[in-house]
Amino acid sequence: MDFILYEADGAVATITINRPKALNALNSQVLDELDQTLDAINLDTVRCVILTGAGDKSFVAGADIGEMSTLTKAEGEAFGKKGNDVFRKLETLPIPVIAAVNGFALGGGCEISMSCDIRICSENAMFGQPEVGLGITPGFGGTQRLARTVGVGMAKQLIYTARNIKADEAYRIGLVNAVYPQEELMEQAKKMASTIAKNAPIAVRNCKKAINDGLQVDIDQAIVIEEKLFGGCFETEDQKAGMGNFLAPKEQKVKVVPFKNC
Ligand code: CAA
Repeated sequence: MDFILYEADGAVATITINRPKALNALNSQVLDELDQTLDAINLDTVRCVILTGAGDKSFVAGADIGEMSTLTKAEGEAFGKKGNDVFRKLETLPIPVIAAVNGFALGGGCEISMSCDIRICSENAMFGQPEVGLGITPGFGGTQRLARTVGVGMAKQLIYTARNIKADEAYRIGLVNAVYPQEELMEQAKKMASTIAKNAPIAVRNCKKAINDGLQVDIDQAIVIEEKLFGGCFETEDQKAGMGNFLAPKEQKVKVVPFKNC
């Protein structure tokens, strides 16, 4: 692949969008390669994914403006669908994805981070949806996910004004969970990913599905979704191992239960 790096280290995989000359902007080829990368993740071994951008300046500086500049209405819609399809695949990946935002996360960059489960960023990160300044709307889910992430009023303000915000403000409005010095960002992302990967994988997956699917329906349907996914954990080896360890005599307990993902 030209623009995506993929590295699996035990149960944690890292996807790096690697087009630093264009600040990791998303053209069609990057989107295609990301799509293929997501399809190729070995879900039997990988339990958490980190998504980041190459270099120390930019996570993703948006969709590729050069490529978009000559699109017709129909082509614009198709390009939006291409991005949305890949981002939805990322959002619904069975295992958690942490966005390690290492710089600019503008337009499609902010949008791809919001398709991840958790966002953490470096101190030099900058978030924003600058699209209305370019004569377009956010097109890879920004009008939908920003409102769901930071609330309708704040999302509308950010989108209508096209104002970019720095890491501290992104933290204050709940767009990111934590801000770290640039040199610590990947270490912190890996630490969080390893912590997640140590927990019972079926349970973690079911939590992700319960939260994501439950948010799309009313509370009565949502709790049924939870009940099914809760029930789905029972009779698994992991449930037996987790509860067995809790109930075991003190001297037989282990600190980290070796969950087997079955
Ligand atoms: N598309 C294509 N190329 C981009 C790009 C983008 N989104 N962002 C940066 N680049 C390219 C620049 O054209 C430049 O290329 P050249 O060296 O060949 O000229 C290179 O990356 C470096 O960029 P700058 O020289 O501009 O770097 P800077 O430090 O001066 O500025 C920046 C950095 C503020 C991020 C600036 O590059 C910028 O404003 N980029 C565009 C950000 C943006 O508007 N993103 C939203 C795109 S629209 C979108 O994403 C729609 C959607 O929702 C689907």
